[in-house]
Amino acid sequence: MKIQAINGFKDILPDSIGRWQLIEQRARDIFERFGMQEIRMPILEKTELFVRSIGSATDVVEKEMYTFADKGITMRPEATASIMRAFIEHGLHVQQPVQRLYTIGPMFRHERPQKGRLRQFHQLDAEIIGAAEPRIDAELIAMGQMLLDELGLTVSLELNSLGCPVCRPPFKERLVAFLEQQTDSLCDDCKRRTHTNPLRVLDCKKPACRAVAQEAPSLLDVLCPDCDRHFQEVRQALTELGIPFRINRFMVRGLDYYTRTTFEFLTTDLGAQAAVGAGGRYDGLIEQLGGPALSGIGFAMGLERLALLMEQQDGRTLPASAMDIFLAALGGTALAPCSQLAHSLRQQGAKTAIDYSGRSLKAQLKQAGRMNARYTLIVGEDEWMRGEGILRNMRTQEQHSFALTGSVTEQARRLIDVLRTMAA
Ligand code: HAM
Repeated sequence: MKIQAINGFKDILPDSIGRWQLIEQRARDIFERFGMQEIRMPILEKTELFVRSIGSATDVVEKEMYTFADKGITMRPEATASIMRAFIEHGLHVQQPVQRLYTIGPMFRHERPQKGRLRQFHQLDAEIIGAAEPRIDAELIAMGQMLLDELGLTVSLELNSLGCPVCRPPFKERLVAFLEQQTDSLCDDCKRRTHTNPLRVLDCKKPACRAVAQEAPSLLDVLCPDCDRHFQEVRQALTELGIPFRINRFMVRGLDYYTRTTFEFLTTDLGAQAAVGAGGRYDGLIEQLGGPALSGIGFAMGLERLALLMEQQDGRTLPASAMDIFLAALGGTALAPCSQLAHSLRQQGAKTAIDYSGRSLKAQLKQAGRMNARYTLIVGEDEWMRGEGILRNMRTQEQHSFALTGSVTEQARRLIDVLRTMAA
Protein backbone atom coordinates (compact mmCIF):
# COMPACT_ATOMS: atom_id res chain seq x y z
CA MET A 1 0.00 0.00 0.00
CA LYS A 2 1.19 3.51 -0.81
CA ILE A 3 1.95 5.70 2.17
CA GLN A 4 0.10 8.99 2.05
CA ALA A 5 0.29 12.21 4.07
CA ILE A 6 -1.75 12.36 7.29
CA ASN A 7 -5.25 13.85 7.06
CA GLY A 8 -5.02 17.63 7.61
CA PHE A 9 -1.28 17.70 6.78
CA LYS A 10 -0.55 18.95 3.29
CA ASP A 11 2.34 19.15 0.87
CA ILE A 12 2.94 22.51 -0.74
CA LEU A 13 4.00 21.61 -4.26
CA PRO A 14 6.30 23.56 -6.59
CA ASP A 15 3.39 24.79 -8.72
CA SER A 16 1.89 26.70 -5.79
CA ILE A 17 5.07 27.64 -3.92
CA GLY A 18 5.37 30.92 -5.88
CA ARG A 19 2.40 32.36 -4.02
CA TRP A 20 3.79 31.29 -0.64
CA GLN A 21 7.18 32.81 -1.42
CA LEU A 22 5.58 36.03 -2.57
CA ILE A 23 3.49 36.32 0.62
CA GLU A 24 6.48 35.56 2.83
CA GLN A 25 8.76 38.03 1.00
CA ARG A 26 6.15 40.76 1.10
CA ALA A 27 5.48 40.11 4.80
CA ARG A 28 9.19 40.27 5.70
CA ASP A 29 9.59 43.44 3.68
CA ILE A 30 6.61 45.19 5.28
CA PHE A 31 7.30 43.95 8.81
CA GLU A 32 10.86 45.25 8.54
CA ARG A 33 9.58 48.64 7.35
CA PHE A 34 7.86 48.76 10.76
CA GLY A 35 11.09 47.92 12.61
CA MET A 36 10.19 44.31 13.32
CA GLN A 37 12.90 41.69 13.84
CA GLU A 38 12.57 38.01 13.12
CA ILE A 39 12.59 35.43 15.91
CA ARG A 40 12.40 31.63 15.49
CA MET A 41 11.32 29.37 18.31
CA PRO A 42 11.19 25.59 18.70
CA ILE A 43 8.04 23.78 17.59
CA LEU A 44 7.82 21.81 20.83
CA GLU A 45 7.22 23.56 24.14
CA LYS A 46 6.20 22.46 27.63
CA THR A 47 2.44 21.85 27.61
CA GLU A 48 2.03 24.10 30.63
CA LEU A 49 3.07 27.13 28.56
CA PHE A 50 0.00 26.80 26.35
CA VAL A 51 -2.36 25.85 29.18
CA ARG A 52 -1.32 28.91 31.18
CA SER A 53 -1.39 31.39 28.30
CA ILE A 54 -4.17 30.22 25.95
CA GLY A 55 -6.35 29.04 28.87
CA SER A 56 -7.51 25.63 30.05
CA ALA A 57 -11.17 26.19 29.06
CA THR A 58 -10.47 27.06 25.40
CA ASP A 59 -11.13 24.73 22.45
CA VAL A 60 -7.45 24.86 21.52
CA VAL A 61 -6.27 23.56 24.90
CA GLU A 62 -9.28 21.34 25.65
CA LYS A 63 -9.31 19.39 22.42
CA GLU A 64 -6.95 20.57 19.70
CA MET A 65 -3.40 20.25 20.98
CA TYR A 66 -0.94 17.62 19.78
CA THR A 67 0.49 16.66 23.14
CA PHE A 68 3.01 13.97 24.09
CA ALA A 69 1.40 13.37 27.48
CA ASP A 70 4.19 11.14 28.82
CA LYS A 71 6.76 13.85 28.11
CA GLY A 72 4.64 16.88 29.11
CA ILE A 73 5.33 18.60 25.79
CA THR A 74 3.09 19.94 23.01
CA MET A 75 3.52 20.95 19.38
CA ARG A 76 2.81 24.67 19.34
CA PRO A 77 -0.79 25.51 18.35
CA GLU A 78 0.14 29.19 17.88
CA ALA A 79 3.20 31.43 18.20
CA THR A 80 2.35 34.12 20.75
CA ALA A 81 2.90 31.95 23.83
CA SER A 82 6.27 30.74 22.54
CA ILE A 83 7.40 34.26 21.68
CA MET A 84 6.50 35.40 25.22
CA ARG A 85 8.38 32.44 26.71
CA ALA A 86 11.46 33.31 24.66
CA PHE A 87 11.09 37.02 25.48
CA ILE A 88 11.01 36.30 29.22
CA GLU A 89 13.68 33.57 29.15
CA HIS A 90 16.22 35.81 27.37
CA GLY A 91 15.22 39.05 29.13
CA LEU A 92 14.86 40.73 25.73
CA HIS A 93 13.31 43.85 27.27
CA VAL A 94 16.56 44.62 29.07
CA GLN A 95 18.31 45.34 25.77
CA GLN A 96 15.40 47.15 24.17
CA PRO A 97 12.32 48.21 26.17
CA VAL A 98 9.96 47.93 23.18
CA GLN A 99 10.42 44.73 21.22
CA ARG A 100 8.89 44.24 17.79
CA LEU A 101 9.13 40.60 16.82
CA TYR A 102 7.80 38.48 13.99
CA THR A 103 7.97 34.83 13.07
CA ILE A 104 6.81 32.64 10.21
CA GLY A 105 6.27 28.92 10.63
CA PRO A 106 4.06 25.87 11.11
CA MET A 107 1.48 25.51 13.91
CA PHE A 108 -0.53 22.42 14.87
CA ARG A 109 -4.17 22.08 15.90
CA HIS A 110 -6.28 18.94 15.80
CA GLU A 111 -9.29 20.58 14.09
CA ARG A 112 -11.65 19.09 11.53
CA PRO A 113 -9.85 19.63 8.21
CA GLN A 114 -11.69 21.61 5.53
CA LYS A 115 -10.95 24.31 2.97
CA GLY A 116 -8.48 26.72 4.59
CA ARG A 117 -8.41 24.71 7.81
CA LEU A 118 -5.59 22.26 8.39
CA ARG A 119 -4.03 20.40 11.26
CA GLN A 120 -0.59 21.66 10.30
CA PHE A 121 -1.00 25.22 9.10
CA HIS A 122 1.37 28.16 8.83
CA GLN A 123 1.21 31.57 10.43
CA LEU A 124 2.85 34.93 9.92
CA ASP A 125 2.89 36.27 13.47
CA ALA A 126 3.82 39.80 14.57
CA GLU A 127 4.01 41.10 18.13
CA ILE A 128 4.85 44.48 19.71
CA ILE A 129 5.84 44.03 23.34
CA GLY A 130 6.29 46.78 25.95
CA ALA A 131 4.03 49.52 24.57
CA ALA A 132 0.45 50.18 25.66
CA GLU A 133 -0.42 53.35 23.72
CA PRO A 134 -3.53 53.11 21.54
CA ARG A 135 -1.49 54.33 18.57
CA ILE A 136 0.54 51.13 18.82
CA ASP A 137 -2.67 49.12 18.32
CA ALA A 138 -3.52 51.23 15.28
CA GLU A 139 0.01 50.95 13.88
CA LEU A 140 0.04 47.16 14.21
CA ILE A 141 -3.39 46.80 12.62
CA ALA A 142 -2.31 49.18 9.84
CA MET A 143 0.73 46.96 9.23
CA GLY A 144 -1.54 43.93 8.75
CA GLN A 145 -3.79 45.93 6.46
CA MET A 146 -0.77 47.11 4.44
CA LEU A 147 0.28 43.51 3.84
CA LEU A 148 -3.23 42.56 2.69
CA ASP A 149 -3.36 45.63 0.43
CA GLU A 150 0.03 44.93 -1.11
CA LEU A 151 -1.02 41.35 -1.77
CA GLY A 152 -4.05 42.78 -3.58
CA LEU A 153 -6.53 41.20 -1.15
CA THR A 154 -9.87 42.65 -0.13
CA VAL A 155 -10.93 41.74 3.40
CA SER A 156 -12.97 43.51 6.06
CA LEU A 157 -11.58 44.54 9.42
CA GLU A 158 -13.63 44.04 12.57
CA LEU A 159 -12.74 45.48 15.94
CA ASN A 160 -13.82 44.96 19.54
CA SER A 161 -12.59 45.62 23.06
CA LEU A 162 -12.55 42.84 25.64
CA GLY A 163 -11.88 45.15 28.58
CA CYS A 164 -9.48 44.38 31.40
CA PRO A 165 -9.43 42.64 34.82
CA VAL A 166 -11.31 45.66 36.21
CA CYS A 167 -14.32 45.71 33.88
CA ARG A 168 -14.50 42.17 32.51
CA PRO A 169 -15.26 40.14 35.70
CA PRO A 170 -18.41 42.14 36.64
CA PHE A 171 -19.52 41.96 33.01
CA LYS A 172 -19.00 38.18 33.00
CA GLU A 173 -21.24 37.88 36.08
CA ARG A 174 -23.98 39.85 34.32
CA LEU A 175 -23.57 37.75 31.20
CA VAL A 176 -23.75 34.46 33.12
CA ALA A 177 -26.91 35.62 34.91
CA PHE A 178 -28.43 36.51 31.51
CA LEU A 179 -27.36 33.22 29.88
CA GLU A 180 -28.71 31.15 32.76
CA GLN A 181 -32.14 32.52 31.96
CA GLN A 182 -31.75 31.49 28.31
CA THR A 183 -30.35 27.99 28.87
CA ASP A 184 -33.15 26.27 26.96
CA SER A 185 -32.30 28.16 23.77
CA LEU A 186 -28.55 27.40 23.86
CA CYS A 187 -26.73 24.54 22.11
CA ASP A 188 -25.14 21.88 24.33
CA ASP A 189 -21.67 23.40 23.95
CA CYS A 190 -22.95 26.82 25.01
CA LYS A 191 -24.87 25.37 27.96
CA ARG A 192 -21.51 24.10 29.21
CA ARG A 193 -19.65 27.29 28.20
CA THR A 194 -22.09 29.41 30.24
CA HIS A 195 -20.05 28.35 33.25
CA THR A 196 -16.63 27.50 31.78
CA ASN A 197 -16.15 30.31 29.23
CA PRO A 198 -19.30 32.46 28.99
CA LEU A 199 -17.85 35.03 26.53
CA ARG A 200 -17.50 32.24 23.94
CA VAL A 201 -21.30 31.95 23.81
CA LEU A 202 -21.35 35.37 22.17
CA ASP A 203 -19.59 34.13 19.06
CA CYS A 204 -21.25 30.72 18.68
CA LYS A 205 -22.27 30.32 15.03
CA LYS A 206 -25.49 28.34 15.75
CA PRO A 207 -28.59 30.42 14.84
CA ALA A 208 -30.34 29.87 18.19
CA CYS A 209 -27.25 30.96 20.16
CA ARG A 210 -26.82 33.93 17.85
CA ALA A 211 -30.36 35.04 18.61
CA VAL A 212 -29.56 34.87 22.34
CA ALA A 213 -26.30 36.80 21.80
CA GLN A 214 -28.18 39.61 20.04
CA GLU A 215 -30.10 40.25 23.26
CA ALA A 216 -27.13 39.77 25.60
CA PRO A 217 -25.53 42.69 27.47
CA SER A 218 -22.53 44.24 25.68
CA LEU A 219 -19.11 44.64 27.25
CA LEU A 220 -18.65 47.82 25.20
CA ASP A 221 -21.40 49.46 27.29
CA VAL A 222 -19.66 48.73 30.57
CA LEU A 223 -15.94 49.21 29.81
CA CYS A 224 -14.10 50.94 32.64
CA PRO A 225 -13.08 54.56 31.89
CA ASP A 226 -9.48 53.56 31.03
CA CYS A 227 -10.51 50.81 28.61
CA ASP A 228 -13.20 53.01 27.11
CA ARG A 229 -10.72 55.83 26.47
CA HIS A 230 -8.15 53.37 25.07
CA PHE A 231 -10.69 51.92 22.64
CA GLN A 232 -11.85 55.38 21.55
CA GLU A 233 -8.26 56.41 20.86
CA VAL A 234 -7.56 53.23 18.87
CA ARG A 235 -10.58 53.96 16.68
CA GLN A 236 -9.52 57.58 16.28
CA ALA A 237 -5.94 56.59 15.34
CA LEU A 238 -7.19 54.03 12.79
CA THR A 239 -9.42 56.66 11.23
CA GLU A 240 -6.46 59.05 11.04
CA LEU A 241 -4.47 56.38 9.17
CA GLY A 242 -7.37 55.85 6.76
CA ILE A 243 -8.04 52.26 7.85
CA PRO A 244 -11.74 51.37 7.58
CA PHE A 245 -13.17 49.06 10.24
CA ARG A 246 -16.44 47.87 11.74
CA ILE A 247 -17.16 47.35 15.43
CA ASN A 248 -18.26 43.79 16.23
CA ARG A 249 -19.32 43.52 19.88
CA PHE A 250 -19.74 39.73 19.54
CA MET A 251 -16.10 39.08 18.67
CA VAL A 252 -14.48 37.32 21.63
CA ARG A 253 -11.55 35.37 20.12
CA GLY A 254 -10.75 31.77 21.00
CA LEU A 255 -7.73 32.38 23.22
CA ASP A 256 -8.02 33.57 26.81
CA TYR A 257 -5.06 35.94 27.00
CA TYR A 258 -6.73 38.89 25.29
CA THR A 259 -7.48 42.24 26.93
CA ARG A 260 -8.80 45.44 25.38
CA THR A 261 -8.39 45.69 21.58
CA THR A 262 -9.14 42.58 19.53
CA PHE A 263 -9.51 42.45 15.76
CA GLU A 264 -10.05 40.12 12.84
CA PHE A 265 -9.46 40.43 9.08
CA LEU A 266 -12.41 38.58 7.55
CA THR A 267 -13.46 37.27 4.17
CA THR A 268 -16.51 35.47 2.83
CA ASP A 269 -14.55 34.29 -0.22
CA LEU A 270 -13.35 31.06 1.41
CA GLY A 271 -16.77 29.54 2.05
CA ALA A 272 -18.25 30.39 5.43
CA GLN A 273 -16.95 33.62 6.89
CA ALA A 274 -13.32 33.01 7.72
CA ALA A 275 -10.58 35.01 9.41
CA VAL A 276 -7.44 35.35 7.31
CA GLY A 277 -5.82 37.01 10.29
CA ALA A 278 -6.63 37.97 13.84
CA GLY A 279 -5.10 39.32 17.00
CA GLY A 280 -5.29 41.68 19.90
CA ARG A 281 -3.81 43.01 23.11
CA TYR A 282 -2.68 40.71 25.94
CA ASP A 283 -1.62 43.12 28.67
CA GLY A 284 -1.39 40.67 31.60
CA LEU A 285 0.11 37.69 29.79
CA ILE A 286 3.83 38.29 30.25
CA GLU A 287 3.46 38.83 33.99
CA GLN A 288 1.22 35.79 34.27
CA LEU A 289 3.99 33.72 32.67
CA GLY A 290 6.48 34.95 35.27
CA GLY A 291 7.92 37.89 33.32
CA PRO A 292 7.90 41.65 33.87
CA ALA A 293 4.60 43.59 33.91
CA LEU A 294 4.68 44.58 30.23
CA SER A 295 1.84 44.91 27.80
CA GLY A 296 1.73 43.46 24.33
CA ILE A 297 -0.28 43.28 21.16
CA GLY A 298 0.00 41.13 18.06
CA PHE A 299 -1.70 39.29 15.27
CA ALA A 300 -1.28 36.17 13.19
CA MET A 301 -2.32 35.50 9.62
CA GLY A 302 -2.85 32.04 8.16
CA LEU A 303 -0.59 31.49 5.14
CA GLU A 304 -2.89 28.81 3.65
CA ARG A 305 -5.81 31.23 3.81
CA LEU A 306 -3.82 34.10 2.32
CA ALA A 307 -2.64 31.85 -0.54
CA LEU A 308 -6.17 30.55 -1.19
CA LEU A 309 -7.59 34.05 -1.15
CA MET A 310 -4.95 35.27 -3.58
CA GLU A 311 -5.85 32.45 -5.92
CA GLN A 312 -9.54 33.28 -5.56
CA GLN A 313 -9.50 37.07 -5.67
CA ASP A 314 -6.62 37.62 -7.99
CA GLY A 315 -6.88 34.68 -10.37
CA ARG A 316 -3.53 35.59 -11.95
CA THR A 317 -1.24 32.65 -12.35
CA LEU A 318 2.18 33.57 -11.13
CA PRO A 319 4.85 33.24 -13.78
CA ALA A 320 6.45 29.83 -13.42
CA SER A 321 10.09 30.06 -12.45
CA ALA A 322 12.13 30.40 -15.62
CA MET A 323 15.65 29.26 -16.48
CA ASP A 324 17.96 31.76 -18.21
CA ILE A 325 19.56 29.14 -20.38
CA PHE A 326 19.41 25.47 -21.26
CA LEU A 327 22.54 23.75 -22.58
CA ALA A 328 21.76 21.06 -25.14
CA ALA A 329 24.90 18.98 -25.61
CA LEU A 330 24.58 16.63 -28.59
CA GLY A 331 27.12 13.84 -28.73
CA GLY A 332 29.84 12.70 -26.36
CA THR A 333 32.62 15.22 -27.00
CA ALA A 334 30.38 18.23 -26.33
CA LEU A 335 29.23 16.92 -22.94
CA ALA A 336 32.32 17.66 -20.81
CA PRO A 337 32.84 21.26 -22.06
CA CYS A 338 29.09 21.93 -21.74
CA SER A 339 28.98 20.70 -18.15
CA GLN A 340 31.97 22.94 -17.31
CA LEU A 341 30.23 25.85 -19.02
CA ALA A 342 27.01 25.15 -17.05
CA HIS A 343 28.97 25.18 -13.78
CA SER A 344 30.65 28.46 -14.65
CA LEU A 345 27.32 30.05 -15.73
CA ARG A 346 25.84 29.05 -12.37
CA GLN A 347 28.86 30.42 -10.51
CA GLN A 348 28.30 33.73 -12.31
CA GLY A 349 24.63 33.84 -11.35
CA ALA A 350 22.76 32.51 -14.40
CA LYS A 351 19.90 30.04 -13.90
CA THR A 352 21.20 27.19 -15.99
CA ALA A 353 19.85 23.76 -16.94
CA ILE A 354 21.68 21.00 -18.79
CA ASP A 355 20.71 17.55 -20.01
CA TYR A 356 23.33 14.82 -19.68
CA SER A 357 21.30 12.07 -21.34
CA GLY A 358 22.57 12.68 -24.88
CA ARG A 359 18.96 12.66 -26.14
CA SER A 360 17.98 14.03 -29.56
CA LEU A 361 17.87 17.78 -30.19
CA LYS A 362 14.08 17.61 -30.45
CA ALA A 363 13.76 15.94 -27.03
CA GLN A 364 16.15 18.43 -25.45
CA LEU A 365 14.34 21.45 -26.91
CA LYS A 366 11.10 20.04 -25.54
CA GLN A 367 12.71 19.72 -22.13
CA ALA A 368 14.02 23.33 -22.37
CA GLY A 369 10.44 24.44 -23.13
CA ARG A 370 9.07 22.57 -20.11
CA MET A 371 11.65 24.27 -17.92
CA ASN A 372 10.68 27.68 -19.29
CA ALA A 373 14.21 28.33 -20.53
CA ARG A 374 14.52 31.69 -22.28
CA TYR A 375 17.46 30.52 -24.44
CA THR A 376 19.01 27.23 -25.44
CA LEU A 377 22.64 26.85 -26.44
CA ILE A 378 22.89 23.92 -28.82
CA VAL A 379 26.33 22.32 -29.00
CA GLY A 380 26.68 19.40 -31.39
CA GLU A 381 29.87 17.51 -32.22
CA ASP A 382 30.40 19.55 -35.41
CA GLU A 383 29.79 22.90 -33.74
CA TRP A 384 32.12 21.94 -30.92
CA MET A 385 34.86 21.07 -33.42
CA ARG A 386 34.35 24.49 -35.07
CA GLY A 387 34.45 26.21 -31.61
CA GLU A 388 30.90 27.50 -31.70
CA GLY A 389 27.39 26.81 -30.52
CA ILE A 390 23.95 27.88 -31.71
CA LEU A 391 22.05 30.20 -29.42
CA ARG A 392 18.30 29.84 -29.84
CA ASN A 393 15.73 32.30 -28.53
CA MET A 394 13.02 29.94 -27.28
CA ARG A 395 10.22 32.49 -27.73
CA THR A 396 11.01 33.78 -31.25
CA GLN A 397 12.94 30.66 -32.35
CA GLU A 398 15.61 32.95 -33.86
CA GLN A 399 19.09 31.41 -33.86
CA HIS A 400 22.57 32.98 -33.81
CA SER A 401 25.96 31.42 -33.65
CA PHE A 402 27.94 31.90 -30.44
CA ALA A 403 31.75 31.54 -30.32
CA LEU A 404 32.94 28.98 -27.78
CA THR A 405 36.48 30.34 -27.59
CA GLY A 406 38.67 31.42 -24.68
CA SER A 407 38.45 29.96 -21.16
CA VAL A 408 35.19 28.49 -19.84
CA THR A 409 34.89 31.46 -17.45
CA GLU A 410 35.22 33.87 -20.39
CA GLN A 411 32.68 31.92 -22.44
CA ALA A 412 30.21 32.06 -19.56
CA ARG A 413 30.78 35.78 -19.02
CA ARG A 414 30.27 36.54 -22.74
CA LEU A 415 27.19 34.33 -22.89
CA ILE A 416 25.63 36.15 -19.92
CA ASP A 417 26.41 39.50 -21.62
CA VAL A 418 24.79 38.32 -24.84
CA LEU A 419 21.67 37.13 -22.96
CA ARG A 420 21.49 40.51 -21.23
CA THR A 421 21.74 42.52 -24.45
CA MET A 422 19.24 40.26 -26.18
CA ALA A 423 16.79 40.67 -23.27
CA ALA A 424 17.20 44.47 -23.22
P1 HAM B 1 -5.95 32.63 15.89
O1 HAM B 1 -7.17 33.44 15.63
O2 HAM B 1 -6.13 31.37 16.62
O3 HAM B 1 -4.96 33.59 16.65
O4 HAM B 1 -5.22 32.31 14.53
C1 HAM B 1 -4.80 33.36 13.66
C2 HAM B 1 -5.00 32.96 12.22
O5 HAM B 1 -4.36 31.71 11.94
C3 HAM B 1 -6.44 32.73 11.81
O6 HAM B 1 -7.09 33.94 11.51
C4 HAM B 1 -6.28 31.85 10.59
O7 HAM B 1 -6.00 32.63 9.45
C5 HAM B 1 -5.07 31.02 10.94
N1 HAM B 1 -5.48 29.70 11.44
C6 HAM B 1 -5.83 29.35 12.69
N2 HAM B 1 -6.14 28.03 12.76
C7 HAM B 1 -5.99 27.54 11.52
C8 HAM B 1 -6.13 26.23 10.93
N3 HAM B 1 -6.49 25.17 11.65
N4 HAM B 1 -5.89 26.10 9.59
C9 HAM B 1 -5.50 27.15 8.85
N5 HAM B 1 -5.33 28.40 9.36
C10 HAM B 1 -5.57 28.59 10.66
C11 HAM B 1 -3.72 33.24 17.07
O8 HAM B 1 -3.17 32.21 16.77
C12 HAM B 1 -3.05 34.29 17.91
N6 HAM B 1 -1.74 33.75 18.36
C13 HAM B 1 -2.88 35.57 17.14
C14 HAM B 1 -2.20 36.62 17.94
C15 HAM B 1 -0.91 36.99 17.85
N7 HAM B 1 -2.74 37.33 18.91
C16 HAM B 1 -1.83 38.13 19.44
N8 HAM B 1 -0.70 37.93 18.80
